[in-house]
Amino acid sequence: MTPPVHGPVAVLGLGTMGAGLAGRLLDQGIQVRVWNRTPERAAPLAEAGAHVAATPADAVAGTSATLCVVADGQALGAVLHGPGGVLAEGPYPGVLICASTVAPDEVVQIAGEFAAVLDVGMLGNRDHARDGELRLFAGGEERAFTTARPLLQRLGKEVVHLGALGSGMRMKLLLNLLMGIEVQALAEATELADACGLDRQLVLKTIAGSGFASPVMAFKSRRLASGRFDEPDFRLRLMAKDLMLASKQAAAVGLSLPLATAAAETHVRATEQGLGDQDCAAVTRALAPKPETDT
Ligand SMILES: NC(=O)c1ccc[n+]([C@@H]2O[C@H](COP(=O)([O-])OP(=O)(O)OC[C@H]3O[C@@H](n4cnc5c(N)ncnc54)[C@H](OP(=O)(O)O)[C@@H]3O)[C@@H](O)[C@H]2O)c1
Repeated sequence: MTPPVHGPVAVLGLGTMGAGLAGRLLDQGIQVRVWNRTPERAAPLAEAGAHVAATPADAVAGTSATLCVVADGQALGAVLHGPGGVLAEGPYPGVLICASTVAPDEVVQIAGEFAAVLDVGMLGNRDHARDGELRLFAGGEERAFTTARPLLQRLGKEVVHLGALGSGMRMKLLLNLLMGIEVQALAEATELADACGLDRQLVLKTIAGSGFASPVMAFKSRRLASGRFDEPDFRLRLMAKDLMLASKQAAAVGLSLPLATAAAETHVRATEQGLGDQDCAAVTRALAPKPETDT
């Protein structure tokens, strides 16, 4: 039996993943205190029984653990150190669990400011988060992991302690490197099919049913078939962030990874073209030929 989770838990950031994680904890009978930069997004969780806090500092008050699920390193910095941030009213005595995908070095840098920190790479999507079906890869000290394990076991069907702080992010970045390359490869094949005059739907169906398609390709082929990239499962700008972080990580250890570099460039360009808040499969729009403009 999973040991009980003691004390309320804070969830900071109620986007695609944070809202799912908070909902899951409520379902498990755990008291949850939530905060989101855009307060309206907390309304469904308030209805489900969460306490909605006005600031991150207010959210973490009296909690034993805090899950930080904001978008990126800049957001993490603001939530921890900004006005009303986690540290605004003094040290935080609980376990800070960084579930945002950020540079491994960033979690290492904040470690000295907290009693206990874990970085947790989440493998899975919003449905997995909502249903406790994530696969979670944690980095950090053994003592912090042991303390947080009962909580993590409510959120993931697989919870792995990889080792030192930063390992969770390293694992997550290489997983998203694969995903980014695979989705871009699928988009490239689809654009080539269109340009050659092949039937797009038939091509996507063929790829999805073939031995070449990974489950993520089969899943994303439905987005490419419908041409609908709104209500993102994973925002394109976040994929661009992760591919950039993975490329930097490779460079830092002396590796030159051509596919990583190319995928990062394509996703950064797609974000600059205004596709950042669409699902990552919208990378296909950055590959499609531009419509002729009248002169
Ligand atoms: N989606 C996935 O499948 C998935 C899977 C694994 C890991 N991740 C990682 O988990 C993290 C969250 O992803 P998501 O998909 O939930 O993202 P999302 O839907 O885009 O939500 C982003 C969250 O970050 C907040 N935020 C952004 N900038 C902020 C700032 N400067 N200060 C404070 N809050 C800020 C947003 O607040 P507002 O509501 O105010 O915009 C929102 O709560 C990311 O690091 C992502 O890479 C995502």
